[in-house]
Amino acid sequence: MSRPPIQRPDLGGPFPEHLAIVMDGNGRWAKRRGLPRVKGHSAGVDSVRTITTACARMGVQSLTLYAFSVENWQRPSAEVQTLMRLLRVFLWRERRTLMDNGVRLRCIGRLHDLPPRALRTLRETEELTSANDGMLLRLALSYGSRSELADALASAARDVRAGTLDPEAIDEETLRAYLYDPETPDPDLVIRTGGELRLSNFLLWQASYSELFVTDLCWPDFREPQLLEALQAFSSRRRRYGSLLPDETDDAPAAERGVS
Ligand code: IPE
Ligand code: IPE
Ligand code: MG
Repeated sequence: MSRPPIQRPDLGGPFPEHLAIVMDGNGRWAKRRGLPRVKGHSAGVDSVRTITTACARMGVQSLTLYAFSVENWQRPSAEVQTLMRLLRVFLWRERRTLMDNGVRLRCIGRLHDLPPRALRTLRETEELTSANDGMLLRLALSYGSRSELADALASAARDVRAGTLDPEAIDEETLRAYLYDPETPDPDLVIRTGGELRLSNFLLWQASYSELFVTDLCWPDFREPQLLEALQAFSSRRRRYGSLLPDETDDAPAAERGVS
């Protein structure tokens, strides 16, 4: 099957090359319907499929989905087991969709913590999709930003001991090189569903200058129209990175500064 053409929505402003999502609110979605929490997780899988496909077709270059945090291991074991099973089933069922849309899968996190069967399925899917040249789908699994930084520091310290890293030469780019996936540029936009106003240990380094978009909708209710709403909001953001935009300086013509 040939790949559907990329159709970037015309938002009248910038489009995020890298989109990252904290997929939160599955449990609340289920509770509100009188269902057990795990039903919310299975409904959330449908949103993963829809959003991944929509992003690939819109020409997003990288999509990072926060699927399971290091802290999530503290949940009741039945819920953790269901999440691990859903992960395996998702990877099996969606291989065709990933291939049809040219999506490449990569996982970030303390993957050695995952059950062996889930890890094997992940590695096989990464391998299967490795030659695809479309969107990069990054699944953050057993991921925590603090553990990522601790792992990075441990590797850097080993290199210092081995004499291959000079501590005096360490700068931001050196540290970046020790993160889980240094080649992928930082996210332009981080979306969080479920309404909580926090990052929950997600990409703390990489999201330093990301734009944030929080919606009260729970993840199973987040579909293409809601994605478009977030992209629309992003397109009108003014990103300064601590500097000023040309029309904001005192030297800018008065009309540009909004002075009448
Ligand atoms: C997000 O939904 C999914 C994971 C953390 C794995 P939650 O399970 O956190 O749902 P809420 O926040 O309790 O509603
Ligand atoms: C964040 O959601 C983690 C994922 C979406 C995988 P949580 O539900 O774990 O976050 P907190 O506990 O509300 O901060
Ligand atoms: Mg939650």
